[in-house]
Formats: sequence, C-alpha cells, structure tokens
Amino acid sequence: MGLLSRIFKRRIKDYDTDALKPRGNYIDPSVPRQIVVAQAEDAENDTLSLRIAELRTPDNRLLVKEISIDLKPGDKVMVTGPSGSGKSTLFRAISGLWPYGMGDIVVPQHRNLMMLPQKPHLPLMNLEGVLSYPLDNVPYSREDMVEAMKTVGLENYIPAFDDENVTGATLETSMSGGEKQRLAFARVLLAKPKMLFLDECTSALDVTWQAKMYGAVMQALPDSVIISISHRAELAKFHTIGMMITDDKDMKISDISEMDQRYLAPDHGGTAPTLDDPQPKPKPHKPA
Ligand SMILES: Nc1ncnc2c1ncn2[C@@H]1O[C@H](COP(=O)(O)OP(=O)(O)OP(=O)(O)O)[C@@H](O)[C@H]1O
Ligand SMILES: [Mg+2]
Repeated sequence: MGLLSRIFKRRIKDYDTDALKPRGNYIDPSVPRQIVVAQAEDAENDTLSLRIAELRTPDNRLLVKEISIDLKPGDKVMVTGPSGSGKSTLFRAISGLWPYGMGDIVVPQHRNLMMLPQKPHLPLMNLEGVLSYPLDNVPYSREDMVEAMKTVGLENYIPAFDDENVTGATLETSMSGGEKQRLAFARVLLAKPKMLFLDECTSALDVTWQAKMYGAVMQALPDSVIISISHRAELAKFHTIGMMITDDKDMKISDISEMDQRYLAPDHGGTAPTLDDPQPKPKPHKPA
C-alpha cells in the first residue's frame, strides 16, 4: 500500500492528537484577559491614558509590567526595547486587539487615530482610494493628494491618478518597500490624525528619506500625540519622551535626552532585523 493511501485509510482517532497540539503560541485558559480599552467620558479630554499593570502573551508569558503614563496633545514618544519584548503588542493593546494582561487604557472620544505598520496595506482600489485608506471614501481634493505625493517624493506616480489600470495590486508589485512606506506617510499627511502610532515604518528608508518623512509629519501634526516604535537612533531627536522596555520587563519612562540608547542601532539606512521580519544570517565563508 502506498504512503498516501495508508494515510487516507487512517481515521482521526488513529492519530496522536496531543502530538498535533501547537507547542508555542497557544492560549493558556488561565491567562488574565483584563486589558480594557474605554473611551473618555469627557469629550474635551484629549489624553491617552495608559495604566497597564501587566501585558502578557496568550500563553501567559509576562512581557511588560507597570506602564503608567498620560499622553497629552503634542507629546512625541519613542518606544524602544529588545526585539520580542512587547512593543508592537502595546500598540495592539491600545487598538483593543490584545486583552491579555491587566490594565486600563482610556482613549479620547474623537478616536481619530492612525497606525502605520512596517508593511503598509495597499487595498484593491485606484490610487485615490489607496491614499484615502483606511477610509472607504475619498475625502481629499486631487490637489491635496498631488501635494502629498510630492512631499513624500512620489511624483513619478502622479500620472497614476488618471490611469484606471493602476490599483493597490499593481502598486504592490511595482513600488519598492521604501516607496510603499512613503506612500503611507502621504496618507498621514492627508488624514492628519490626532493620534499617530508608527511601528518601525521607516525600516526600508535611508537616513535622508527617514528624516524627511519624520520632519514633514512633525511639522504637519504639531498638536498630535505621536508614538513611534523604532530601533533607529537617528529618530530620537524628533521625540520628547522615551519609553524603554528593560530586560527586567519594566517600562522606563524619561525625557528623550535621558533615554537609554542601548537598544538603538546607529542609523545605517538599511532594514533593521526584527522577530517579525527575520533577516537571513550571512553564511560562514567556506574556503574553496
Ligand atoms: N499570538 C501570540 N501568541 C503567543 N505569543 C505571541 C503572540 N503574538 C506575539 N507573541 C509574542 O509576544 C512577544 C512580543 O511580541 P512583539 O511583536 O510585541 O515584539 P516587539 O517588541 O514588537 O519585537 P520586534 O522589535 O521584533 O518587532 C514575542 O515573543 C512574540 O513571539
Ligand atoms: Mg514589533
């Protein structure tokens, strides 16, 4: 009997189903799911308030403890820490997608927030729709969209506004990683969110483009709360507050000038390796 027919003849009960259970990343039934995200009761209250006793993984591993901070309009925060320490998870918790742990998060009523991940999503729409994402309509004038494309150095894509063959799918293949990240910055310049969360969203940009993008955003959004996760030392100067996850899983909060730089790589213009996006290690050189 061939291997395939032997497999098909087996029934589920013949398998050792315990052996099939995932070993990592499982949900521990006893993990607390008490991170609650609420909207401020007072419409005038613009503060993002984080009171997180513990941030955990679904398999009940402690990531960070005792995060306590109130962020007011205009605050610019840089979050650093070792790869895998929980920086992106903190953003997931603020979005309401991560209940694992214990704590209270209060977001302002306006909920005018925007998150930029490392790899921007390009929806299956024309360029106007791609620029307006995540809104499902196009609230901007053509003039403003062209201006935003110029600011982020994508003027060579301006003819695509009038080309019905251009969609998120064609842009996905034609644009470089850095161009896609700049397109995401164009969305920010148009949407002008009151709270902006940037998760390593300049990883494919060289030092010059990174500084241009941050410069443009900081100038356009002086009164917004901006929280950046980054390993790039060059970005510190755009922020006022430093938050660092320590090896002891504490969140150390300080003025940016006093932030511990140990997890920041000197800017090299390349892509910082992360757990989410592992880089291949160079192969050891073998003598011929
Ligand atoms: N669904 C899940 N189940 C179990 N563990 C998870 C799950 N999602 C994430 N984790 C773990 O949580 C930890 C924190 O992940 P997170 O993405 O927040 O790290 P990070 O600090 O952003 O790292 P990096 O700098 O590499 O992006 C990691 O160890 C990750 O493997
Ligand atoms: Mg991350």
